[in-house]
Amino acid sequence: MRHTADFCINNVNIATMSASPTFANVPYGIKENASVYISAGRIEKIDDAKDVSSQGSNVIDAQGQWLLPGLIDCHTHLVYAGNRSSEFEMRQQGKSYAEIAKQGGGIQSTVSATRKASYEHLLHLAKDRAARLIEEGVTTIEVKSGYGLDLETELRMLQVAKDLEASLSINIEPTYLGAHCVPKEFRESPDAYVRFVCEQVLPEIVKQGLATSVDVFCETIGFTPAQCETVFIAAKRLGLNVKAHVEQLSDLKGAKLAAKYHALSVDHIEYLQPEDIPALISSNTVAVLLPGAFYSLRETKLPPIAALRAHNVPMAIATDLNPGSSPIASILTIMNMGCVLFGMTPEEALLGVTRHAAQALGLNNKGQIVSGFDADMVLWDIEHPCEVSYGINQVRPSRIWVSGKER
Ligand code: NIG
Ligand code: FE
Repeated sequence: MRHTADFCINNVNIATMSASPTFANVPYGIKENASVYISAGRIEKIDDAKDVSSQGSNVIDAQGQWLLPGLIDCHTHLVYAGNRSSEFEMRQQGKSYAEIAKQGGGIQSTVSATRKASYEHLLHLAKDRAARLIEEGVTTIEVKSGYGLDLETELRMLQVAKDLEASLSINIEPTYLGAHCVPKEFRESPDAYVRFVCEQVLPEIVKQGLATSVDVFCETIGFTPAQCETVFIAAKRLGLNVKAHVEQLSDLKGAKLAAKYHALSVDHIEYLQPEDIPALISSNTVAVLLPGAFYSLRETKLPPIAALRAHNVPMAIATDLNPGSSPIASILTIMNMGCVLFGMTPEEALLGVTRHAAQALGLNNKGQIVSGFDADMVLWDIEHPCEVSYGINQVRPSRIWVSGKER
């Protein structure tokens, strides 16, 4: 075999998750009995499996295992200190998430703990949480700030997020979520806090290159649509992508507003009305579903899955890993929840953590196993790709590559 590839994985079944015409009607974009060539961190080409006699030292015999794209957790808040188990106790005694927030708990309590935590402590905590995701095959994690709210702590959180990338050899997409909660010091003047976010913090984050996107929490216990719009305008002016937590607890028409600013994604959306869905199509916005928050808050209003599906809106799913609404560090459990709680198919769940999750982060070269894409790939000893969504704590990857390097 004369080939310039760095290595080749032979005798492998591939769930390419490709959107290309070749795979248009092939579930999971499956190509069985294949070989894949990796060169300079990228997928060079996919071919039929080769005869065993042609195998050399740079050929891995996958023995019929399944190769899937590295999983992408496109919505997490995994940098924080403290925990909110006492609020779990309160919720189980009958208090709601919103009531706890209004009484100064919720996000505010994690802000107090995070402000007090050192860079080293935050990094240590975040590494442990990220490790849980990585052991399940996650190779890209979006990480939001939003538990500092003051300049110093937001920068510290984003620096921790950035440094996770090198220390764990994975991809991190950092998002500035200043408009997560109005901090104590601005309690009497939320608009002044929004000005602080737009005029003081955002420019500094851009200057230091610490975030690629800006997020907001558009909600009665978060920020009004007008305040969110102010943040979107400032973010766009500075060349950042926008995304938004919308319609989680009520319908403020946040998704429509986000679509107006070409948001990469609108996240949660249990209270999204079907008539607001067409707006998402024209703006190419991904619907990010967060079944972990739905489950943990014992929400009963389901996101409008059937309408999203009917309109061909790409659906992603993510852990929303955070200490309040979704203390769940397991993308595979979330995939199962997407199926069992939201009625997604296992194929939709896998698309939701690969191709569609990549789109939710604006990553054009991840989430599919096709030539030219980053060689973020996970090998699984399973009989079919639907198995990764099928159970809880049943499967683990056998090998993981990030940009062609084995972890
Ligand atoms: O995605 N909704 C706002 N933000 C997070 C929760 C944050 C928290 O409760 O600490 C979410 O659910
Ligand atoms: Fe969130």
